[in-house]
Amino acid sequence: MFIIRQEQEKDIQTITEVNNAAFEGEGEAKLVEATRASANFVPELSLVAVTDDVIGHILFSKIEIETNKGRVPTLGLAPMAVRPDFQSKGIGSALVREGLRMCRELGYEHVVVLGHPAFYPRFGFEPASKKGIEPPFPVADEAFMVLEIKPGSLNGISGVVKYPPAFDVV
Ligand SMILES: CC(C)(COP(=O)(O)OP(=O)(O)OC[C@H]1O[C@@H](n2cnc3c(N)ncnc32)[C@H](O)[C@@H]1OP(=O)(O)O)[C@@H](O)C(=O)NCCC(=O)NCCS
Repeated sequence: MFIIRQEQEKDIQTITEVNNAAFEGEGEAKLVEATRASANFVPELSLVAVTDDVIGHILFSKIEIETNKGRVPTLGLAPMAVRPDFQSKGIGSALVREGLRMCRELGYEHVVVLGHPAFYPRFGFEPASKKGIEPPFPVADEAFMVLEIKPGSLNGISGVVKYPPAFDVV
């Protein structure tokens, strides 16, 4: 059994360790640390899955879509990680669902993710290209996805996603 809650100061070291265990390099852990130290951080949207210890983490942070009518604020889901010995037990899915519920509660209308195309569509994500949203770098079309938390909220919005400097480490 596990619970999901907002990260606390005491979790920070373990969040780094979970990211380093789940990913090959240290880039994702550095992304979490750089985002936490930036104005793009939303404390309520850094969530941990906890048993006796932190076994999973998900982060949503403020990013923007550059459109020909100006910049539109949105959220980026990145990164998310579950400790390898706890993967494929539903923890990642629970983190996404609780994260999206919190995003909605805070009034955010859409989310962008670059990730596994076999994983995120089950939560409603679809290729961003279908909505006229483009990545700022070359990437497989089906891996760059968006979700309208509020249905129709991306209607009339098209452009290129801009990631803040914290993302330079990944
Ligand atoms: C991706 C990840 C967060 C999912 O967490 P989880 O607790 O294992 O997820 P769940 O148990 O809820 O769901 C498992 C699903 O994740 C999918 N998944 C996990 N790793 C995957 C991968 N590398 N590629 C594609 N799908 C993957 C599986 O297809 C599985 O789907 P299934 O239920 O149809 O078999 C976790 O596997 C992880 O930390 N992976 C390494 C880091 C990573 O890739 N992070 C995501 C970057 S987009």
